Amino acid sequence: MDKPAQTQLATQLVHAGRKSRYTQGAVSAVIQRASSLVFNTVADKKAATHNRYKGALFYGRRGTLTHFALQDAMCELEGGTGCYLYPCGAAAVSHSILAFVEQGDHVLMSGAAYEPTQYFCNQILKKLGVETSYYDPLIGANIRDFILPHTKVLFLESPSSLTMEVPDIPALVNAARAMNPDIIIMIDNTWAAGVLFPALQYGIDISIQAGTKYLVGHSDAMIGTAVANARCWDQLREHSYLMGQMVDADTAYMTARGLRTLAVRLNQHHESSIKIAQWLAKRPEVKAVYHPALPSCAGYEFFMRDFKGASGLFSFELCKTLSDQQLSDFLDHFRLFSMAYSWGGFESLILANQPNEIARIRPNITRTLTGTLIRLHIGLEAVEDLITDLDAAFARITL
Ligand SMILES: Cc1ncc(COP(=O)(O)O)c(C=O)c1O
Repeated sequence: MDKPAQTQLATQLVHAGRKSRYTQGAVSAVIQRASSLVFNTVADKKAATHNRYKGALFYGRRGTLTHFALQDAMCELEGGTGCYLYPCGAAAVSHSILAFVEQGDHVLMSGAAYEPTQYFCNQILKKLGVETSYYDPLIGANIRDFILPHTKVLFLESPSSLTMEVPDIPALVNAARAMNPDIIIMIDNTWAAGVLFPALQYGIDISIQAGTKYLVGHSDAMIGTAVANARCWDQLREHSYLMGQMVDADTAYMTARGLRTLAVRLNQHHESSIKIAQWLAKRPEVKAVYHPALPSCAGYEFFMRDFKGASGLFSFELCKTLSDQQLSDFLDHFRLFSMAYSWGGFESLILANQPNEIARIRPNITRTLTGTLIRLHIGLEAVEDLITDLDAAFARITL
């Protein structure tokens, strides 16, 4: 598979959203910090009120030039009508769902979705009288059996968190729409940074990202984005505005700055993560590598068909379950990999999960793991150095 951003995508990422109205003579958009945006005349105030969600400066919570620049860029990159900005990825997920459900509705959620997304459904949606059921992301067109008369939202995540299954998105989308043309389909598209999988072109209504990861890219800010098509934009925007969702201008600026280097970063994450995944696949301690670009990952064929490239996050399963002592021996002495919950930055990260922990957060999925699952985020360090670090970790355990 070629590196993801050889062509137009690289150019688009450099230029997206940099209109002269936003940059005012500089290269990047200005940082416009504001709550009050002042009107010189009654007519100006009237015009701003009328155009308050069409790029007019109205009130800080509706955004400033800095926010508009990022929103325009995201719409251009993901092919949407509008982009709402949230304080973090979890807010983008929860408000995208909340905007479209009411008491008595049903949400269909991937059983391998990001754990807090599942908890949002099980706790907050439940409290609001919205029912959730979980499907196996590999179910394909059989999703039709899960769609109920009151199913309002189908939520996808690709690849899945931790176990990395890549769903057959066209099969899921087509089967769901055949059952209910009005169903709202949304995806957590964080792994693909929105640009490696063009979700809206696949008939998905809303593409959500924890921009905290690849868009920001430096592990120093949090933001969520939701790019919506024309059908969903007004409802998503007004719900989120009324729920007080917004992000400060400085974070919006940092996120737009991240876009400028996203192509080169993704190219490197792609190349390095595949090299390390291939190296791991040859290790005797490793049972299987779950990297979407390797045939050992469930849904590899859908990844090769639908994605423009890989990013840096993947997992591998060890032949055995590590004891607590072995876990510490393996994880505590890395030179370059750090243990942290996030990912998507320039640095390499590592986390381990035991099979019973994974099973607990896989509702309606019968596949089980037998060995400890190690998740890696491959950053921008030299591959040889990362391999030396991993090699030393394997030497600290005997399996
Ligand atoms: C797949 C996925 N979606 C959403 C989120 C939530 O993002 P944030 O931490 O910005 O709220 C995360 C965070 O790890 C994630 O991995």
